[in-house]
Amino acid sequence: MADMKLDFCGVPFKNPVVIASLETTNSPDLMKQAFDYGAAGAIIKTLTDIDDMAVLTMNSKYAIMNDRGDIIKGKVPRDFKFYSRSGYSSTYYKDWIPYLKEIGAYARERDAHLIGSAGAKDVQGWIDICRTIEDCGLPMVELNFGCPHPALMPGVHGGSMIGQDPEVAFSVTQAVCEAVDIPVVVKLTPDQSKPVDIAKAVKEAGAAAVTATNRYTAFAVDIDTAKPRLGGTAGIGGTWTKPLSLRYVHNIYKEVGIPIAGSNGIFDHRDVVEFIMTGANIVEVGSVLMVKGMKWLPNIIRGLERFMDEHGYKDIASMYGIASDAAATDYSDQFAMSRVTAEVNGETCQNPTCNVCVQMCFYEALSQDPAGKINVHNDKCIGCELCMDVCPFDSIQMVPTSEADYADGYFKIKDEIYEPADSKFATKRNNMDTIEADAPKAAAE
Ligand SMILES: Cc1cc2nc3c(=O)[nH]c(=O)nc-3n(C[C@H](O)[C@H](O)[C@H](O)COP(=O)(O)O)c2cc1C
Ligand code: SF4
Ligand code: SF4
Repeated sequence: MADMKLDFCGVPFKNPVVIASLETTNSPDLMKQAFDYGAAGAIIKTLTDIDDMAVLTMNSKYAIMNDRGDIIKGKVPRDFKFYSRSGYSSTYYKDWIPYLKEIGAYARERDAHLIGSAGAKDVQGWIDICRTIEDCGLPMVELNFGCPHPALMPGVHGGSMIGQDPEVAFSVTQAVCEAVDIPVVVKLTPDQSKPVDIAKAVKEAGAAAVTATNRYTAFAVDIDTAKPRLGGTAGIGGTWTKPLSLRYVHNIYKEVGIPIAGSNGIFDHRDVVEFIMTGANIVEVGSVLMVKGMKWLPNIIRGLERFMDEHGYKDIASMYGIASDAAATDYSDQFAMSRVTAEVNGETCQNPTCNVCVQMCFYEALSQDPAGKINVHNDKCIGCELCMDVCPFDSIQMVPTSEADYADGYFKIKDEIYEPADSKFATKRNNMDTIEADAPKAAAE
């Protein structure tokens, strides 16, 4: 059985699955549930001294939308958008003290960790909250520089406003790191910011790790009522954000070299695997638990273990960063990695009734002959792989080729990036020169 243990900032974790800071960690009982269901950690809903951010949580609104932007009723599918407004913990941070001690002990008994989270009104506030967290025996604290909501609250400063400013992020992080001995994790914003630059700044300031990332700010419309959902701008996340989050995990892993907690876009264990293979050490699971309940958690943990067993990964280290390590450093490397050309499987191809691929090849490399058969013109095929993806009958594959087989001007991008002037914009896709005949018509005749 795969070993899921790992070390994150010097703290041992029994598995990489941690509950993100959000409503599911806004009460002692919910956090206890998370530990009972096997979470290796739970990050408390951000503790604060900003009254307005507590009031905001008591006025939270949530809308779960599908891919069309309609409200999902009932079972929530993988492809959901979580559109919401919510603040920090609804309980003043000092009132949490006895509970932090109690839940921290409860977590330790289950070989897990209660992790702190802070969001304050000024530098002294950041220090006070983080010291309180440390004094209560919590092994780690996350600084919430990613929350989209303070920027939408008149008179409030914090969250993504800090995460968008390298100098402020540096100084708050430095002040906290000087004040506490526990590892400090900085939660980044992807919203209108340069998360890699912020990660570099907070690493220099003493942060032990970063969380990539918190959520975005968005606007959504109910077209039937012609009104904005939730009344106006709000935060948004969901599984659709995963590739965007992974891009930052990848860049930070490659360029900054700091431990990473992956967040924003996890639904099930497959997403966890993607984050780890990109370079996340642990993952933070959030909104899916709000829509599925805490009982969803064991599916993720067991799914991860099963995946590792089935794919022969003996431990987390053997999956860690392997996709990022295999990634090209830039597009010229990527070109060299994919010298392929299209090949049509005549046995399974459904021509002449289908010619989807001919319509989709934007490089004039596919045509239909009078009998409806699909021909590949390798001199024009650039191996873009689009036809392979759009073929409804899985009848196109890519086969290796050499540079010599490529159309002039495409593969040799350094010398001849542009098409010859006389062929510019002169598409021949629907021209008899390239589509040798109207095949379905010819076949019918
Ligand atoms: C309703 C809601 C409340 C949240 N509250 C907090 C918070 O108090 N502190 C924080 O650091 N992140 C907060 N987040 C962000 C989550 O911790 C998490 O980073 C984000 O939802 C992305 O992960 P997910 O795709 O698993 O939901 C909140 C997210 C949601 C949806
Ligand atoms: S899309 Fe697929 S099935 Fe349709 S014509 Fe092309 S190769 Fe054949
Ligand atoms: S791989 Fe791209 S260029 Fe080649 S035939 Fe398919 S769609 Fe056309």
